[in-house]
Amino acid sequence: MKSKSLIISGLLLMALGLFVGIAAAQQIDTGPTPDVPEIHGGLLYDEWWEHVGVDVPEGDHPLWATQSTNTRSGADTWRCKECHGWDYMGKDGAYGSGSHMTGFPGVFNARTKSVDELVGILKGSSNPDHDFSVYLDDKSLNDLAVFIQGLNDYRQYVDYAAKAPMGGDAAHGKMLFEAEEGCQMCHGMDGAKLNFGDATEPEFVGTLAVDNPQEFMHKALYGQPASDPRMTAAIERGWALSDVVDVLAFAQTLPTGFETVAAAEAPATLPQSGGVPLNISILLVIAGGLLAASGLVVRRKERISR
Ligand code: HEC
Ligand code: HEC
Repeated sequence: MKSKSLIISGLLLMALGLFVGIAAAQQIDTGPTPDVPEIHGGLLYDEWWEHVGVDVPEGDHPLWATQSTNTRSGADTWRCKECHGWDYMGKDGAYGSGSHMTGFPGVFNARTKSVDELVGILKGSSNPDHDFSVYLDDKSLNDLAVFIQGLNDYRQYVDYAAKAPMGGDAAHGKMLFEAEEGCQMCHGMDGAKLNFGDATEPEFVGTLAVDNPQEFMHKALYGQPASDPRMTAAIERGWALSDVVDVLAFAQTLPTGFETVAAAEAPATLPQSGGVPLNISILLVIAGGLLAASGLVVRRKERISR
């Protein structure tokens, strides 16, 4: 009888271990960026050199000199978003005024072009100074083209003047943000665990949500280039665009600054991919195996002494 219960509890332990293992495998994967062209394209639209891991070209982008209203220089001038906007509308969108204004067109209307046409534009077909093929390989240019074809119109979700989401469900957003594997996993429940600014001028996920809803939408959807741990994109999570709008509505209620500096300064403990649950799973399977094996040994001894 003793041996039987040992074997059974051993097998149960192994099953539990396997269950934990399967659950862990379904966890948010902070490993390499999944091979989804749209996600790569969205990340390349920002600091593409960070995403591919090369040096940013020196000086200003050659087209930069054709405008004079945006006074930034160097690396910024090479970001697609600096010329075309976080809302992809260029001069017809949020960058139609303010310090980011360049007067350059958006890319939104180009979403109806074919991948070949778009890759052509990125190789300088319409303007030789718009040639990125020196820096980005065909796969990356292709990913950018696929990303452009799938662009969303944020004007339907964000009230530009009020800088607020239109019709976002903050309660649902809170649920998504605070879920075990939601945004809180890295950004903390109050969004202040990661500080993108510094100790005197902190920038939290709440700060960005309030300051630049369009940038928030883009980053929540596609992720953040070269983030460590890798930020998982809403697209990977299979979220609908309305889910991102809901999270934006909730994120706008989070701390935006100084009152949480102390919290942000606390060293962040960030999750590792796989991590603890996988280790627990392996331990459980081994322990269960040993238990079941010892049960078998006891059973044999019982038989012999019988
Ligand atoms: C320094 C500013 C600048 C940067 C950086 C830049 N572009 Fe452009 N882009 C332009 C300008 C200006 C045009 C208009 C092209 C022309 O003169 O024919 C343009 C045109 C385009 C078009 C065609 C739009 C249409 O409706 O036909 C696409 C698509 C495009 N850019 C994508 C990108 C992508 C993707 C990146 C990043 C890899 C990028 N651009 C980086 C300035 C820029
Ligand atoms: C696996 C960890 C992780 C998860 C999960 C995560 N993020 Fe991030 N996120 C990061 C890291 C790391 C950065 C970059 C921090 C830096 O640049 O200092 C970042 C940056 C951002 C930024 C850009 C901030 C800026 O100013 O550039 C936004 C917006 C953001 N995250 C929103 C979200 C939202 C919304 C979610 C949930 C859908 C989420 N994140 C989930 C790790 C994560």
